[in-house]
Amino acid sequence: MTEFPRCDRSPTWAALQSHFQQSGRAFDVRQAFAADPERFASWSLQAPEVFADLSKNRIDRATLDLLLQLARDVQLTAQREALFNGDPINATEGRAVLHTALRAPAGKGPFTDEVQASLTRMLAFADGVRDQAKSGITDVVHIGIGGSDLGPAMVVQALQSYVPAGLRLHFVSNVDGHDLAPVLRELDPATTQFIVASKTFTTQETLANAMAARAWFLAAGGTDVAKHFAATTSNAKAAADFGIDTTFGFWDWVGGRYSLWSVIGLPIAIAVGSENFRALLAGAHAMDQHFREAPLERNLPVLLGLLDVWYRNFHGFTSRSVAPYHQGLRRLPAYLQQLEMESNGKGVDREGDPLSFATSPVVWGEAGTNGQHAYFQMLHQGTDVIPVEFIAVKTPNFGAHVGGEWLDRLKDQHVKLLANCLAQSQALMQGKTAEVARAEFAPTASKELDPDVLSRHRSFTGNRPSTTLLLDALTPSSLGALIALYEHRVFVSGAVWNINSFDQWGVELGKALCNGLLPRLASGDAAGLDGSTAGLLNKLRA
Ligand code: F6P
Repeated sequence: MTEFPRCDRSPTWAALQSHFQQSGRAFDVRQAFAADPERFASWSLQAPEVFADLSKNRIDRATLDLLLQLARDVQLTAQREALFNGDPINATEGRAVLHTALRAPAGKGPFTDEVQASLTRMLAFADGVRDQAKSGITDVVHIGIGGSDLGPAMVVQALQSYVPAGLRLHFVSNVDGHDLAPVLRELDPATTQFIVASKTFTTQETLANAMAARAWFLAAGGTDVAKHFAATTSNAKAAADFGIDTTFGFWDWVGGRYSLWSVIGLPIAIAVGSENFRALLAGAHAMDQHFREAPLERNLPVLLGLLDVWYRNFHGFTSRSVAPYHQGLRRLPAYLQQLEMESNGKGVDREGDPLSFATSPVVWGEAGTNGQHAYFQMLHQGTDVIPVEFIAVKTPNFGAHVGGEWLDRLKDQHVKLLANCLAQSQALMQGKTAEVARAEFAPTASKELDPDVLSRHRSFTGNRPSTTLLLDALTPSSLGALIALYEHRVFVSGAVWNINSFDQWGVELGKALCNGLLPRLASGDAAGLDGSTAGLLNKLRA
């Protein structure tokens, strides 16, 4: 595989460091707006389905020019082509990374025949289950974890208004039986479809839940395991050994956290139907085309990825908060945690050499406005600066069951939601001086306290960066584009850092140690264990 240069060995890296010392560190977004009335126009961008306002970020032309030069130094465009062309860029596993091929139109992209055949078969099955008059299915229980859970669970929740009344989808992931037990309590085996989703079909959590689900199915009077259990996996043999006949396969060039576009998307297709699933793919493909073709300086995944590098490596910001102002997107932060942190939480470069710079930030968040009443205090007044990403949806869709005055009220609530979203990014940027705070009437403030002291408690530093992403509506197509935007943005920062964004060796050690501890928990044998683990094991057995 072609070797690409490492960012910290390029002269632009040093230039960015001195640029940061000279002007980047002290950059004030408020002053930038005062100096440039066109700042919003210059720093916002319409990509397919997603409008992005980057103007409230600590960035100016000089910074962007250097970041773009860095992108050229690391041969970002050649790295991007290697991705799309199916070069084995996941070198530690000797695999290509071709989730983009899954959403390419028929006849386009690598492996198109296999991809289309697999898609057609999966969608036919999905529509069959969705046709409740014929299938009799009322509940779909999807069992998977990580990439075989987070994407489908997030998308199905986001597109709830496309799910027919009377069809319920349940997602079970945790090896903790408290996940599965309450789901099955309400169900009837005769009207339940199970999907066991595991790329490897070796994952402890998924196999344990699948076996427990089968035991429940038989105990509760279920009669046809072959009809009621399907598998989505790249290990068809293991699924067959488990006793599942209906298997939808996929390929090793689809990474787990990039797999919702493959047959792993089966619960999505059941939930929203084949046409909407195709629209999800089409939205993602539109973003793929934008990423592949737009000039770097007007390329949204590139701009966001470079901004991530600027904040992580030069400002030293350790986390990024994601605040979707749409209840349907409440699982997006969890999905993005795997996408970004499993992809870019790496400490060595592609050659295996240690890195001299930081990689993945912590990605976290909660739907607005709930987050405002939990952790936004820290975002506004805490000692750390945390860039925030707001996601807002212009037009709501509450579903066909909502109408009349109820609908009017919900629409009014949507306006409140949007106002909150705008207010938060405004407050983060503007802040409030102690003088302004002192001049304000604060009815709940103590009358006993020195007004100067009080005003310092009530002031905000401001200049806290944020990005706002706007969708016209939350549809299969706009959601597809949004997810693909995130995938490519993670690719961009990983490419700059010269890391393998597509392996996940960091999850192996814990899995292996768990296998070693399992028999010890049964036997009580603590010999050779470290003192803490032995002590805890004894406590759990006492
Ligand atoms: O443990 C991490 C991981 O390997 C993820 O990368 C993956 O998405 C998840 O486990 C589930 O794996 P599988 O789909 O093989 O069950």
